Amino acid sequence: TLTRREDYVAPSHWIRTVDLSFDLEPAKTLVISRMQVEPNADRPGQPLRLDGEDITLTRVLVNGESVSFHFEDGQLVLDKLPAEPFQLEIRNTCAPEKNTQLSGLYTSGGGFFTQCEAQGFRRITYFPDRPDVMAVFKVTLKADAKRFPMLLSNGNLVESGPLDKGRHFAVWHDPHPKPSYLFALVAADLVCREQKIRTRSGADHTLQVYVRAGDLDKTEHAMNSLIASIAWDEARFGLKLDLERFMIVAVSDFNMGAMENKGLNIFNTKFVLASPATATDIDFGNVESVVGHEYFHNWTGNRITCRDWFQLSLKEGLTVYRDQEFSQDMAGSPSARAVKRIEDVRGLRQTQFPEDAGPMAHPVRPDSYQAIDNFYTATVYDKGAEVVRMMATLVGREGFRRGMDLYFARHDGQAVTCDDFAQAIADANPDSALATRLEAFKRWYAQAGTPRLKAAGRFDAETRSWTLTLSQHTPATPGQADKWPFVIPVAMGLLQADGTPVAGSERVLVLDSAQQSWTFDGLDAAPVASLLRGFSAPVILEWEASEADLFTLLGHDTDAFNRWEAGQRLAVARLLGAVRAGTPLMLDAAYLDAMRAVLRDAALDCAFKELVLTLPSEGYLAERLAEAGEPVDPQAIHAAREAMRAQLARALHEDWAALWEAHASTGGYRPDPVSCGRRALANLALAHLVLDAVAHGDTVWPGRALQRFKDAGNMTDRLGALSALVHGRSPLAANALERFHAMFRGEALVIDKWFALQAAAPEHDGEVFAQIRALAKHPDYSLRNPNRARSLLMTMTALNPGAFHRADGSAYAFWAEKVREIDGFNPQLASRLARALDRWRALAEPYRTLARAAIEQVAAKPELSPDTREIVTRALAD
Ligand code: ARG
Ligand code: ZN
Repeated sequence: TLTRREDYVAPSHWIRTVDLSFDLEPAKTLVISRMQVEPNADRPGQPLRLDGEDITLTRVLVNGESVSFHFEDGQLVLDKLPAEPFQLEIRNTCAPEKNTQLSGLYTSGGGFFTQCEAQGFRRITYFPDRPDVMAVFKVTLKADAKRFPMLLSNGNLVESGPLDKGRHFAVWHDPHPKPSYLFALVAADLVCREQKIRTRSGADHTLQVYVRAGDLDKTEHAMNSLIASIAWDEARFGLKLDLERFMIVAVSDFNMGAMENKGLNIFNTKFVLASPATATDIDFGNVESVVGHEYFHNWTGNRITCRDWFQLSLKEGLTVYRDQEFSQDMAGSPSARAVKRIEDVRGLRQTQFPEDAGPMAHPVRPDSYQAIDNFYTATVYDKGAEVVRMMATLVGREGFRRGMDLYFARHDGQAVTCDDFAQAIADANPDSALATRLEAFKRWYAQAGTPRLKAAGRFDAETRSWTLTLSQHTPATPGQADKWPFVIPVAMGLLQADGTPVAGSERVLVLDSAQQSWTFDGLDAAPVASLLRGFSAPVILEWEASEADLFTLLGHDTDAFNRWEAGQRLAVARLLGAVRAGTPLMLDAAYLDAMRAVLRDAALDCAFKELVLTLPSEGYLAERLAEAGEPVDPQAIHAAREAMRAQLARALHEDWAALWEAHASTGGYRPDPVSCGRRALANLALAHLVLDAVAHGDTVWPGRALQRFKDAGNMTDRLGALSALVHGRSPLAANALERFHAMFRGEALVIDKWFALQAAAPEHDGEVFAQIRALAKHPDYSLRNPNRARSLLMTMTALNPGAFHRADGSAYAFWAEKVREIDGFNPQLASRLARALDRWRALAEPYRTLARAAIEQVAAKPELSPDTREIVTRALAD
C-alpha cells in the first residue's frame, strides 16, 4: 500500500507519558507499556489506532478495565474510549532472537539492541508509531545479570539493583518528550570508555562509549570525536548538550550506519571502532563524521523532529550539512576544507546523480512511498544537504546562523516540516536572495531530477565586455514530466588567459528563470570562466570550456574545487573520447605534462594531488554517457580507464617513484589531514609503480610493496600495499592476502576489508568475478551480518562495474540469487542491494536485456518483502 504525503492527518490521541517495562529473554521478551493518553481536541471521537508488527498481544486495559478492540490493516483499533485523558496498558511479547530483520528489538553477539527508526518501535509494542506523537519515557529493564550486565536506555539512570534468580534491573527516565523512533535499549555484556567533560558554558557531562571487551582500545577516536562535536555545536550554532549523560553503543549487526536515539546513540561498529592497526585514514574520517552526525541530530532531529516521514530531509539533509561543515572545520586549512568538499561532491555524483536519473528518482521531500526504509536515500540525505548549503550561500554565514536561531526559537520541542525550516531561514533574512524567491527556491524540495545548467560566454572586443548566459533544463523523472525552473546559486569568478584572477569578478549569480545573462565590463580579452565554484549547486554544468581554458583552470584557479574539476574534465574528455571512438586510449603530452606539473607543484597539498590524479570512477563515466543519451558499455569504459591508468603509471614513473620516496614514511600515526594526504598520495604512487612493474615483468616494486605490507605501522599503509599487489595483479598478491587474513582473523571489520579489497579488484577476463563467487562460499562469509554481506556484494555492484557487468550475465544472476536469499530474512538489506541495477535501461546490449532478466528474476520470487517489491516494481515500470 502506498502512503501519500498529502494524506497527512494529525493524530487522534497524544501519548503524554510511557512507562515501559521489559522482561528480557532472547526467545521471548515480555513488554508492559502503561501510557497516559489524551484525546486530540482537534479530532474528537476518533478511534485510537496502534501500530504493531510481529508481536503477540496478551492484554489491553483502559483505566484498569478490559476494553473491546479489533485489528484493522495490521493495526490494533480501540474505539470505545473515554473523551477525557485515560490510562492505557498494553502487554505483549516479542522474540528478539528470531528478529533477523534487525529492526525493533533484536539480539547480536548475545546481547539485546534496538533499532526503531523509522518503524521499528511497532515491532516492540503497540503504539502510535509516528514521529508527531511525542512522549516522556520511563523504562524498566530486567534481565539475567551475568549474561547482560549492562542495562541501558535513554536519559538518566534513576535506579538499579539485583533481583532474585540471578537477575537485575535498571530504571531509566528521559525528561525530553520524544517520538517512538528515538527510543532505544541495550542489554549486553559490554565495557565502556568514560570521560567527564565541562563545556565552555560550564556544564558537566558524562560521556560513554560502550563496546565488547576486546574493543576498548579502539574507542579513543570516537570519544575524541564526540568531545569535538559537542564543542563545535556550541561554538558554531550555540547548541548545547541538554543531557547529563551521553552514551554511544557499538553493535556489529546493524543495517545502517548509526542511530541518534536520545542520549543513547547506537552505532554500527564500523563507525565507532578505530585503531591505527585496524582502521584506515578513511575509517578515522568516517568515525569523526558519523559521531558528529548522530550527535548533531540531538538538536536537528531530536529537539525538533519531523512531523511525518516525508519530512525526513528536514533532519537528515540539515544534519548531513552540519556534519560536513564540522568535518571541514576540523580539517582546518583552506586546502584541507576543499579536499573534504571535493570528496563530498564526488560521493554525491557517484550515488545521488544516478538515483536522480533512474527509476527511484524522487524529490528531496518525496510524495509517496511503499516502504519508508527505501527513502533513506542519497537524495534525502546528500541532495538534501546541498539544498541546505544553497540556503546558507544565499543568506550568508551569519544569516544562516540567524536563521537557525529563529528555527529553534520557533520550533524547539515540535514536530515540523521542511517548509517550517525554509521559512525560518528566510524570515531571519528578509532581504536576502532566498527570502525574495522562497517559493521558487522550495522547488528543490518538490522536483526530482538533476538540473542541467548550460553556460555560454560571448566576448565583445568593441565594448570590452563579456556576457555570460546561463540557462537551465531538468529532464523528466517518473511521475514528473515538466519542471519549473530552479533557483540556482552560481558562485563564479574570471581569470585572464595567463591564470591571473580578474579583480572584482568574484560573485554569486542567482539564476531563477529558464535563461538569464550577466555582463562583465572592462576586459581586454575573453576571460577564462570559473563557474559553479565550490560546487555551489547540485547541477550538471554543461560548459564547453576549451582545453586551453581547462588547463588554465587546473593550473591557476583560486578555487580548489574547480582546479580539481578542470582536471577531471580533461580526464573525462580523453576517456569518453576513446570509448566513443572505440579506439585504444592514447594519452597526449599536454595532459601528461599537466599531471606532472600538479605532482611537482610544491604549493599543492598531497591530498589534493591524490584527488587530481585519481581518475573519475567507471560509474561516473557511465553516467556521463547516460546523460548524453548514449548506451553505456561498462566493459568499454573499464578498458579505457585501465589503459589510462597504465599510461599514467608508465609516463609518470619517475614522479611516482619520487613521491613514494618523499612520503612513504609519515612517522607515528596521526589521522590529521596532512599525514592522511601523504599516505594517500604514497599509496597512489605505489599502486602505479606496481601496476607498471607487473606490466613490464619487473619485480622491484612488487617486492617493495610486499616489504611495505609486512612492516607497515598502520592499516592505511598495510592495506595500501596489499591493494597495490592485488589490484596490480602481482604474483605476490595471493600470499599477502593469506597472511593478511591470518593476521586479522579475530577482527571482523578487518576481515570485511579483506573481502572488499578482493571484490574491488579491476576485472580481468572474468577472474575477479570468479573469485567473488568463490569468496561467497568462504567459511568467514555470511549474509546474516550486514557489513559482511555488503563487503562482497555492495563492493562488486557499486564499485566494480567491470566485474558486475559480464557479457554472459553471470554476475547479474549471482546478484539476483543473493537478493532473493537475503530478502527472506532481512528486507532492508535486500532492498538496498536490489537497487544495484536501477540504471539498467542506460546499458548497451547485451547488458540491458540480461539485467532486465535478472531484475525479473528477483521480482518473480513469491512472498517478496514490500521493501524489495517496491524497488523492483519501480525498476521495471515503463
Ligand atoms: N537516522 C539515522 C541516521 O541518519 C538513520 C537510521 C535509518 N534507519 C533505517 N532503518 N532506515 O543517522
Ligand atoms: Zn541522520
